[in-house]
Amino acid sequence: MSESTQLAGKHVLLGLSGGIACYKSAELVRLLIKAGATVQVMMSEAAEAFITPVTMQALSNQPVLMSQWDAREPNNMAHINATRRADVMLVAPASADFIAKLVQGRADDLLSLTALARPAERCPLLVAPAMNREMWAHPATQRNIAQLRADGAVVLGPGNGDQACGEIGDGRMLEAAELRDELIAFFQPKLLAGKQLLITAGPTFEPIDPVRGLTNRSSGKMGFAIARAAAEAGAEVTLVAGPVHLATPRGVRRVDVQTALQMYDAVLPRAAAHDVFIATAAVADWRPAQINEHKIKKDGSSASASAAPSFELTENPDILAAVAALADRPFCVGFAAESRDLLKHAREKLLRKGVPLIVGNLGPATFGRDDNALLLVDAQGQRELLHNDKLSLARELIREIATRLHDKP
Ligand code: C5P
Repeated sequence: MSESTQLAGKHVLLGLSGGIACYKSAELVRLLIKAGATVQVMMSEAAEAFITPVTMQALSNQPVLMSQWDAREPNNMAHINATRRADVMLVAPASADFIAKLVQGRADDLLSLTALARPAERCPLLVAPAMNREMWAHPATQRNIAQLRADGAVVLGPGNGDQACGEIGDGRMLEAAELRDELIAFFQPKLLAGKQLLITAGPTFEPIDPVRGLTNRSSGKMGFAIARAAAEAGAEVTLVAGPVHLATPRGVRRVDVQTALQMYDAVLPRAAAHDVFIATAAVADWRPAQINEHKIKKDGSSASASAAPSFELTENPDILAAVAALADRPFCVGFAAESRDLLKHAREKLLRKGVPLIVGNLGPATFGRDDNALLLVDAQGQRELLHNDKLSLARELIREIATRLHDKP
């Protein structure tokens, strides 16, 4: 699924209440439309003080709804029509005052009226708070947020950091791209709700001296996509990542490591507390037996004169096999990156590692890329997941794992 189809067919009712963060909502409209959604913007009177309806209409390509007395609607019931057409109502920004109105069930302007008249089952309410940190921390707001959640709304954020008032703290509205990703995640089926997943990703780096090391070509993209897909499916995800330059998927707990031994130390004590362990990391099989304290020099000052240095290697522990050997092991999934004979090697690995599922892929064809093709191999047989982008494949893999967990005796 490409970026432009993640929200295909979804109709978003985007409500803006008053706040500086309204400027982010302009970008949000662009991103939602780019992801394939249609967007109907609705603004409170206070929102109009921060951004014009002209901007929002131009970006959403639809007239903005602003008044409950708007005679353009044939039945004169904008508050009913808007939510009957929408798959979701997202209020971003949601000011402290607007949240208080929601909690009280007030309906004295179009936005609050619409939220109240919304068929809750068919058109869920998502709320992205945006306010000064003192307003956010105030017991009244915290009470309101708790009540809003209890009433069934999903609260997105807020974020933390610099605020328009010059203070620093909780209360910033999430960035537009974060809100888009939250919305994409919201629409994914919650196949792993309540499950704990532990995932390794990326390469490991085995130092030779302070400036050199042994590593491999894994980009980490497949493992990060799986972590994102698992979080979208409602799982609690811990991602143990080797050295990669990738953003942590939203809602995922990340533990950074460098070497195979550090990855082993991060994984083993955590593994038994998880329902699933997915080993996507390309762990270095060997590490230098000794790490040179100082850079090995070409002039032979650290090695025998003029000859190329040689160093001994020692084998790294097999993290996946060690987890699979635990008495209270999670459901273990291994990866096999091969350059040929994928099925044969994957099947061998299934036995050698003692795991119920191996996912094969052709390494050189996928390293660093955003797409891949997978071969799922288990005791019953094999199944191909055809060439696709890594996030779509990750979601398919998560579906497969969820089915297996469900079927587990
Ligand atoms: O042993 P091999 O590298 O062929 O198997 C690959 C699978 O085993 C992957 O799932 C990889 O993450 C895992 N593995 C591991 N620890 C190692 C080597 C590989 O967890 N030391």
